[in-house]
Amino acid sequence: MMEKMLEVADEFYKLPVEEKMKLYSDDPTKTMRLSTSFNVNKEKVHNWRDYLRLHCYPLDQYTPEWPSNPPSFKEIVSSYCKEVRELGLRLQEMISESLGLEKDHIKNVFGEQGQHMAVNYYPPCPQPELTYGLPGHTDPNALTILLQDLRVAGLQVLKDGTWLAIKPHPGAFVINIGDQLQAVSNGKYKSVWHRAVVNAESERLSVASFLCPCNDAVIGPAKPLTEDGSAPIYKNFTYAEYYKKFWSRDLDQEHCLELFKN
Ligand code: OGA
Ligand code: NI
Repeated sequence: MMEKMLEVADEFYKLPVEEKMKLYSDDPTKTMRLSTSFNVNKEKVHNWRDYLRLHCYPLDQYTPEWPSNPPSFKEIVSSYCKEVRELGLRLQEMISESLGLEKDHIKNVFGEQGQHMAVNYYPPCPQPELTYGLPGHTDPNALTILLQDLRVAGLQVLKDGTWLAIKPHPGAFVINIGDQLQAVSNGKYKSVWHRAVVNAESERLSVASFLCPCNDAVIGPAKPLTEDGSAPIYKNFTYAEYYKKFWSRDLDQEHCLELFKN
């Protein structure tokens, strides 16, 4: 399924430009669009990336607006989305338990979670040292399941002040903790800074699946984690408030969660 997902993503980006341009939009509120960079209308510096952004849950609501070319796109991507959602929810249960919380604690806080997908395409770049595919950022959602193209590396994460390359492995996903898990875990889980670099020789694809708390979910440090007297680092906020703030800023500014501290 992972291979099929990457294949159909590759086929999509190989479609003629005129065909793809029918889906182009730079309006971040659209639930299906092909776009470029990050937030072209707001940003001063653009990134070397195209991306197809889809809402994926509930599937029946959104698949009608998905691309119907390549013809197998809807079927392959729907199956992939279902599996990835199950994986993400299972991970949330395990993360809950690892914090000493009830298995369902995090899932209950996040409510009926939304799911988005970014199918990222990074063309070869003649001067890769001058730009990024995506500059350093954290993901604003709960958690991200990232499928990387096996042909070439590009993802880097910041660890102890150094950017480390995360090479793709056959059959493996990268799981990025997002800002909302950092908030709920009162900072025990860290929403990782990551970026995508580009290269001169090879195009690169990645497929990011984001689980997103429902808009009215009230998010803040889980009560049991502050009962031992440790102070709640973050305020309570709704996911809608957070998401609005995130999209109003540049991608590589300070951690958006800093703005929600006590
Ligand atoms: C993202 C992201 C990294 C990559 O889409 O949020 O961080 O390797 N992608 O494409
Ligand atoms: Ni990201």
